[in-house]
Amino acid sequence: MIRLTEKPAWKALQAHFDEIGELHMRQLFEEDPGRFERYTLQCCELLVDYSKNRITDKSLDLLIQLAEQSDLPQWIERMFTGERINFTENRAVLHTALRNRSNTPVCVDGKDVMPDINRVLAQMREFTESVRSGEWKGCSGKAITDIVNIGIGGSDLGPVMATGALKPYSGSLRVHFVSNVDGSQICDTLAELDPETTLFLVASKTFTTQETLANAHQARRWLLDSAVDESAVAKHFVAMSTNVKEVTAFGIDPQNMFVFWDWVGGRYSLWSAIGLSIALYIGMDAFEQMLEGAHEMDKHFRHAPLRENIPVILAMLGIWYHNFFNADSHAIFPYDEHLHRLPAYLQQCDMESNGKRITRDGEVVDYRTGPIIWGEPGTNGQHAFFQLIHQGTLLVPADFLTGATAHHTLDEQQKILFSNFIAQTEALMRGRTAAEARAELEAQGLSEDEISRLLPHKIFPGNEPTNSIIYPKLTPGVLGMLVAMYEHKVFVQGIVWQINSFDQWGVELGKQLAQVVQKELDEASIAGHHDSSTQGLLNFYLHRGKG
Ligand code: F6P
Repeated sequence: MIRLTEKPAWKALQAHFDEIGELHMRQLFEEDPGRFERYTLQCCELLVDYSKNRITDKSLDLLIQLAEQSDLPQWIERMFTGERINFTENRAVLHTALRNRSNTPVCVDGKDVMPDINRVLAQMREFTESVRSGEWKGCSGKAITDIVNIGIGGSDLGPVMATGALKPYSGSLRVHFVSNVDGSQICDTLAELDPETTLFLVASKTFTTQETLANAHQARRWLLDSAVDESAVAKHFVAMSTNVKEVTAFGIDPQNMFVFWDWVGGRYSLWSAIGLSIALYIGMDAFEQMLEGAHEMDKHFRHAPLRENIPVILAMLGIWYHNFFNADSHAIFPYDEHLHRLPAYLQQCDMESNGKRITRDGEVVDYRTGPIIWGEPGTNGQHAFFQLIHQGTLLVPADFLTGATAHHTLDEQQKILFSNFIAQTEALMRGRTAAEARAELEAQGLSEDEISRLLPHKIFPGNEPTNSIIYPKLTPGVLGMLVAMYEHKVFVQGIVWQINSFDQWGVELGKQLAQVVQKELDEASIAGHHDSSTQGLLNFYLHRGKG
């Protein structure tokens, strides 16, 4: 494998960066009135305007050449056709098959996985209809009113994000999420609930995750405290997992289990049985619309030429800023309150995937890989951290997302929201020159002395890159498209950075270490092999802060 930094396109991009470094987007827009048309892409209802980026046609040509020199088209096919590209875990990567609404065969080691996927979808449909209609009864004969998803990481974030996003499509069931091992979360959640009408969904790919099992056992104890006998578990607990043995050991009837497979990565699992809470909340038809939206994006990603391919363009722009401009982070600003958990969801999708430093050849990289992902919904972010983006010293490329119409009828507020979306992206691009700032101060009637004192503080450099991602309305289909778009963006970046985006050994280490410490706490004896800081903290805990 040729090292990334040795590739001709990488070297050409480095030289191009030196040429383009300070070129201002204001100038690019002034010189080219067709910039919006040329730098806008569409997939079904989703419009992506990437014209407010520090790029020219030459930058794009070189970025696409880099993608080609990374064999991206071949890698896309390898993923979609079920090759074991997650080579450190020897697994295929087939979340795309879960939403393959064309139902064409997708094979892993010669076996078509579609019949199994369709069987679980049918099982989910039957179950959700039975719970939503009230046909499914709790142990005392009452219908279910509340569902509690117990899971963490990918077994939590996708369902949390999607149920938040699709709230306008919800029925009468209330949905709750318990992820944190901090007992406060499960205690607070259970305090609001009635065991006779609560259904727990234990979501865990491995069914060995400490946090999830601790919370699930607590929920089980809470249920049994008020139930006649253990048979209540069958009416109030279902599991979504790949591990039948552990699900059975927990006491959940395999009949109440919704399976998925090792080729579904945790952070890509909301499309699988892990999405059961979403399906219960919005109904199976709407859940399948979400799959359809994702499938549309999959087809676009697989077949559109690289230069017209939304995830590819977003990925390569990210590489442009992260590797050449040294931008450390990438921000996600949904101007859509229902997407308030999208930044958190994308943190796992991106940072657990591309937070790697070893290439597929086992070498330490000599360039930067995954960025820090962060964000908050607009307009809240504007009143918190946007100051830093406008006038601080860091370059923060950002995605702005919004819907042209809302689910509510407060048209005036929707107009204010959209105005802010537009104003921010425009201001970040244009900035405010000294002449503009001076004219404004003069118009306020300030003296020359006051103007010179204030002027430097009133100048905005601008040239801050943003992508504007806009859709008619946040429907299940649009959400599916958005999430698939980001998954593929992350995939493309991982391929170019020559890393495996599909394992997460860094997280596994934390799990192992916590078990060692927990054993010491159980035995109230510290083995003494810790550093003085760790030792001191453990002692403080053991003596409950009494010194
Ligand atoms: O955080 C690490 C991780 O392995 C994630 O990849 C996964 O989504 C999460 O833990 C939960 O794992 P499980 O679904 O097996 O409980």
